[in-house]
Amino acid sequence: MAGQETDDFYKDAVNYWSNIPDTIDGMLGGFARLSSSDVGQSMTFLKKIIQGPGALTEPEVALDCGAGIGRVSKRLLLPVFNTVDLVEVNPKFLKTAETYLGELSSKVGNYFPVGLQSFTPESGRYNVIWNQWVLGHLTDKDLVEYFKRCKKGLKENGVIVAKENVSGGEDYDFDEVDSSYTRPKEALLKLFEEAGLKVIREEKQKHFPKDVYAVFMFALQ
Ligand SMILES: C[S@@+](CC[C@H](N)C(=O)[O-])C[C@H]1O[C@@H](n2cnc3c(N)ncnc32)[C@H](O)[C@@H]1O
Repeated sequence: MAGQETDDFYKDAVNYWSNIPDTIDGMLGGFARLSSSDVGQSMTFLKKIIQGPGALTEPEVALDCGAGIGRVSKRLLLPVFNTVDLVEVNPKFLKTAETYLGELSSKVGNYFPVGLQSFTPESGRYNVIWNQWVLGHLTDKDLVEYFKRCKKGLKENGVIVAKENVSGGEDYDFDEVDSSYTRPKEALLKLFEEAGLKVIREEKQKHFPKDVYAVFMFALQ
């Protein structure tokens, strides 16, 4: 994949995000209006993982990866988990999260200001590791290694979730503006497999506009 191994790949993304406002619209590239629909369907997906007869794990400790200002933590993870940690490359966003999360910030365990390519979750700590709209910022190689480390960071029966855009054809789409890749679904599935993960559940995001990328959620173990 062109561009993946250049030194600038990560630097350009850091530069891009350092100029983006610490708002929901900033997090979603101008699509703040899609946040409710996104979180609504994520909640239904998550509840099947942590509640009811088919539950895979408990709502104890979650990790929000590429957390930004904590949009996913605030609306999805903190309302249901006892503790949530946030990992995010831009420290400015984490600073904003401290206030944006309001009273829920009392349930935050740790704020980790680091890129996922350099992050190692504490062994056996997490029931759920949630990655949303961030994996395109990792090279294929780094994504596989990162997911292997995430696997070790799970409690027994814990789950990794990936919620990402997928490209329509067989090619990776490179976005020069934010320095990220949108991968075909098949490519994502191959990377999960390389990391030793199996897809337990999969769902397509509904009610998004037709002119944006399709978005898929995968529950992985
Ligand atoms: C599209 S935003 C999504 C934020 C959040 N996941 C959400 O859904 O609201 C992407 C986030 O990933 C962060 N990011 C970019 N590259 C990263 C990396 N290598 N490691 C960790 N976070 C990264 C950006 O700073 C930004 O906060």
